[in-house]
Amino acid sequence: MNSLIGPIHIKAKKGEVAERVIIAGDPARVEQVASMLSDVRLVNRNRGLLVYTGKYKDVPVSVAMHGVGHPSSMLVVEELIMLGAKIIIRFGTCGAMVKGLRIGDIVIPTAAAYHPGGAFYQYLRDNVCMACAPNFEVLKTLVEETIKANVNYVVGPIVSSDAFYAEDPEFVKRWTSRGIVAVEMECAGLFMLGAMRNIKTGALLMVSDSLVEELGFASAEELKGYVDRAAKIVLESIL
Ligand code: HPA
Repeated sequence: MNSLIGPIHIKAKKGEVAERVIIAGDPARVEQVASMLSDVRLVNRNRGLLVYTGKYKDVPVSVAMHGVGHPSSMLVVEELIMLGAKIIIRFGTCGAMVKGLRIGDIVIPTAAAYHPGGAFYQYLRDNVCMACAPNFEVLKTLVEETIKANVNYVVGPIVSSDAFYAEDPEFVKRWTSRGIVAVEMECAGLFMLGAMRNIKTGALLMVSDSLVEELGFASAEELKGYVDRAAKIVLESIL
């Protein structure tokens, strides 16, 4: 297995990645969260997979960019684990699939279904689905910190898709009929690796659009104001 040969894409040294890691797909968001840390330094920029390590309230925390979709994010998660990560929280965005959520509101996944195909099944081999759920303590803390922050939120199962532009009305009908509250592109793989590699995982997602209401699609620029508020919740939860 490739994990025997060590990290190939993230060229940080052992000890340069904290046990507590926040991951995000957008490099600008990674930089915004990193700016909230003290004593922060860039420990990897190879392949553009930015990894910053610093301290939040004197506790070492890393913030890493995982790119878009499972092939990229699972590779990054595997390498972060090789470098010593013990808890990984994804701080991402999602498309709402229930009504009543607005841009910047929060979705906390209790589980992630996977829209079949791709990297996920290369791990599972037998094509049988597995339960992809975050660590319960991480999930509980994320919910408690979100309630404290007084932000509108939904807690429930999401779906991780590999094909952003294939999310047509049929996709929405099928997944909403299964009780899914939001769609994004990385959580199922993260939760699966959490179980397989025995580390703690969780996720907090900001709503950037809706597949069931007309909200438009919030740009990274528009989301920026919501990122500080949500990042504080994630940072408090990872301590
Ligand atoms: N689909 C998939 N991933 C996403 C979306 C979406 O609508 N919004 C944010 N991430």
